[in-house]
Amino acid sequence: MTNGNGNHRGFWKTRLGFVLAAAGSAVGLGSVWKFPYITGQNGGGAFVLLYLACALGVGIPIMLAEFTIGRKTNLNPVGALQTLRPGSWWVVIGYMGVLAGLLILSYYCVVGGWTVAYIVKSLNHSLDRFANPREAGGYFASFIADPLEMIFYHAVFMALTVAVVFKGVHGGIEKACDVMMPGLAVILCVLMVRSLTLPGAMEGVKFYLYPDFGKITAKSVLMAMGQAFFTLSLGMGAMITYGSYLSEKENLTSSTVYVVGFTLLISLLAGLVIFPAVSFAKLEPTEGPSLVFSVLPIVFSRMPLPTLVSTVFFVLLLIAALTSSISLLEVVAAYFIDQLKWKRKKAVSVMGAVIFLLGIPSALSFGVMKDARFMGMTFFEFVDNLAANYLLPLGGALTAIFVGWVWGTKEAQKEVERHETQFHFVEIWAFLIRFVAPVAVAAIFLAKLF
Ligand code: TRP
Repeated sequence: MTNGNGNHRGFWKTRLGFVLAAAGSAVGLGSVWKFPYITGQNGGGAFVLLYLACALGVGIPIMLAEFTIGRKTNLNPVGALQTLRPGSWWVVIGYMGVLAGLLILSYYCVVGGWTVAYIVKSLNHSLDRFANPREAGGYFASFIADPLEMIFYHAVFMALTVAVVFKGVHGGIEKACDVMMPGLAVILCVLMVRSLTLPGAMEGVKFYLYPDFGKITAKSVLMAMGQAFFTLSLGMGAMITYGSYLSEKENLTSSTVYVVGFTLLISLLAGLVIFPAVSFAKLEPTEGPSLVFSVLPIVFSRMPLPTLVSTVFFVLLLIAALTSSISLLEVVAAYFIDQLKWKRKKAVSVMGAVIFLLGIPSALSFGVMKDARFMGMTFFEFVDNLAANYLLPLGGALTAIFVGWVWGTKEAQKEVERHETQFHFVEIWAFLIRFVAPVAVAAIFLAKLF
């Protein structure tokens, strides 16, 4: 298949392939690693509700908008906006997306590297020797403080990402998702049962599910919104790019609901694994990025066949992380391939190398650079905060305004209905896209400012 520029682009083979790939992009470290730790930092239950509200009220409509733009134009975000509104400044959404993709991938690969390392450490039995729960945390802390190990695993994860994206759309991406998605859900359910039956588990469940709105600040609301964009891979054109590989037969509305539903399920399950174990081990839920990696070995060690369980878990998490990181690299690469006419291999390898270098300070943020401050944060936190809490919501709000007011919800509706029978709930969607999404993001930015 070729697009308007006559370039060779891939297409999804099957409907399920597309849904799985989009869900693969969404489900990743954001659900399993980031969601529990920021929920812990933001007081638990009330934050979970805010996150769900953002995902349903803002995430769903924007995801559908991105898919629609992508399928309409069959182009990367920059090209797509240029095509829909030639010569206008709306194309900044595309450029911001490429920038956000670059920034996110730079530290995403660092955490992806942690999963690779934890596969190795499971296999050589380093994770099942802890005398007490605190030791698991100490072990992880000294691991992430080691500069050589950090950079090495960061490089390994980036190399894996590059290797998959090299093969193009269905060669690599589609296949990787088939096994991972159901597998990850199943193993999280098993771990959840173990976690919930640990002594003292209920205190953690209460923290996680009982909403105490007294703990919510403007910053928490911003983080909940940022997290909704981050876990659903929205606000930077990733779903425009994936939608651009779609053929006309897909049902965009039901694909959207499926992708969001599955992502929320994985996030909520991850919380039900982590918090009961946190209270069992008498750890602090506010620990931050290391929370999940410090807590999981505690759960594994209280199961039969701990080595097997932890290896399988980290392998699945690695695949989940890879199906996300490839979508980040794909956005960046698609821009160079479509707009600058680079060859796929060149775009992927050059940008992979650049992003790897950009990620080195993040890789060192838990060790040699842990005291370096960028606007009061470590480099890792700074890049994460900039990209996830600001660039993504801003890109998403602009996308909503573009579709709602400039391109027009009528045009979008036509595209949705091009092959499927009817766009149900189109009025609700139009309302959310035109009013709710832009206003919510603007209000949250303003609240954070004052
Ligand atoms: N959604 C992924 C996760 O939760 C991360 C991710 C992949 C992403 N592609 C994205 C985030 C695009 C924002 C935009 O792990």
